[in-house]
Amino acid sequence: MDERGKKYLIKEDKDFHSDFGFIKKEHLEKSEEGQILKTHLEKEFIVLKKDVNDYVELMERKCSIILPKDIGIIIAYTGLGAGSIVVEGGTGAGTTAIYFGNVVGSEGRVTSYEIREDFAKIAENNVKGFELENVRIKCQDIKKGIDEKDVDLIFLDLPKPWEMVEEVKKTLKNGAYLATYNPYIEQFQILHNILKKNGFKDIKTVECIFREMEIKSKGTRPKTRMLGHTGYLTFARKL
Ligand SMILES: C[S@@+](CC[C@H](N)C(=O)[O-])C[C@H]1O[C@@H](n2cnc3c(N)ncnc32)[C@H](O)[C@@H]1O
Repeated sequence: MDERGKKYLIKEDKDFHSDFGFIKKEHLEKSEEGQILKTHLEKEFIVLKKDVNDYVELMERKCSIILPKDIGIIIAYTGLGAGSIVVEGGTGAGTTAIYFGNVVGSEGRVTSYEIREDFAKIAENNVKGFELENVRIKCQDIKKGIDEKDVDLIFLDLPKPWEMVEEVKKTLKNGAYLATYNPYIEQFQILHNILKKNGFKDIKTVECIFREMEIKSKGTRPKTRMLGHTGYLTFARKL
């Protein structure tokens, strides 16, 4: 991270170049987290070991992604944890797959379906860059069927999740969760009806309204600019 707070993803086996100058790879290789390194222009960089949030912020993406505020709720509401088996429909950049993979650990598994080859390639690279071995990207139309069985969580970031409800029911373990993300109210209204018809229980939709605080010498208050709306999260259990 540089003096301006800007973060960079770097490779230790290459010299690092920026508009603040360069740092030789020999210095990067020997560096430790929290250490200050100086470029040839005497600009300071602090060494930071990337966590999942740093990584997702900097990785490649060509579509909209789900934000941490919504991912946190999905993880908490579905009880996702070490060893969980997850299927995802709509990999996109791989953001949610990476967060899920990070949470389920080496005993768990995440399989994410992506219909577009170009997106699947980007997501595969992103997963590889975070060194996750428990996440698999399948370049496949999820609507043609889910190959996995006895799954703890199916997460769908697709425009018509209700078209998958019967397949989801066949794939989930008893008591396991479906979670969906949709930007429009009409989408979760249709989904609720279909979930009820298919006997799903504990059906609920939530929206997370998130405000960051601004702390200044004049006073403390919510930031004046905020993200008005991302999406609605719907949860249901197979019982
Ligand atoms: C909004 S993106 C997902 C973003 C992802 N959750 C993230 O946070 O990075 C939705 C993705 O679903 C994919 N998609 C749409 N229909 C699909 C289908 N039937 N099977 C698999 N993927 C599909 C799209 O190509 C797109 O990449």
